[in-house]
Amino acid sequence: MAIATLRDILPQAQAQGCAVGSFNAADYSMAEAILEASAEMQVPVIVSVAEAHFRYLDVPGFVRYLRERAAELPIPVVIHLDHGTSLTVIRSGLELGFSSVMIDGSALPYAENAALTKEVVKAAHTLGASVEAELGHVGGGEGNLTEGTEADPANFTDPKQAAQFVEETRVDALAVSIGTVHGPYRGEPRLELELLAEIRSQTAVPLVLHGGSGLKEHDFRQAIARGITKVNFFTENSLAGVEAVRELLSRGRPVGYPDLIASAKARMKTVVARQIAVFGTENLRGL
Ligand code: 13P
Repeated sequence: MAIATLRDILPQAQAQGCAVGSFNAADYSMAEAILEASAEMQVPVIVSVAEAHFRYLDVPGFVRYLRERAAELPIPVVIHLDHGTSLTVIRSGLELGFSSVMIDGSALPYAENAALTKEVVKAAHTLGASVEAELGHVGGGEGNLTEGTEADPANFTDPKQAAQFVEETRVDALAVSIGTVHGPYRGEPRLELELLAEIRSQTAVPLVLHGGSGLKEHDFRQAIARGITKVNFFTENSLAGVEAVRELLSRGRPVGYPDLIASAKARMKTVVARQIAVFGTENLRGL
């Protein structure tokens, strides 16, 4: 099957009332867990490589490997650069072969975010790649594992601005801020579902939910029912891999490195499969 873009899968997800998981891969075993689970369930998938994780990777080699794997699997695979912070990083990502990019100008004032996003759309669309941008700001951080974060209503997405932003920039998908945060939550997450419905009523662009870890099944279902078509998911997967390793080590017997890695991968694969089922991605079987 071909390497895909967000344009190849998100409109279909929208039509089918489901979402596609955008799972972060920070190394080869995470990537294999994501690809194997998706291929076994015969569903499209978005493998995300965050700019923040570039330091763990030989990025050119990793993208080459993802492209080769995607080409041999019988499912659409989007190879997505997650949270790109500058036009320079986006351009080099596109050159390396990412089929999709996210430009994160969400901390910038509206006009600067829109101007930067327009430049990225020009660069990416020329090469056939898709673009996600963010309006409003999803806080937190995957590194913040001890304290957790609370969503800040001051940074929620404004529905009318969202419509204007999509019109101006021509992005293929828009990440919205409706109560989620990256990494662990402080307290219980509370999604602003009415706000999400209002954003949906103002623009037809596929909407993206960042900060999927820590949400419950009914949160996802309610968000997807109101227009979310792409869910970003990392922290829970990462922690599940670590937990599997901890369990193996706690048995008190010597453990070889290959078994350590295999146990982390197997656990992450079950998490990815569980999330695919929750997102209803099986509605897109055979795409
Ligand atoms: P979590 O790590 O909270 O699941 O968020 C992932 C994400 O949004 C990546 O862009």
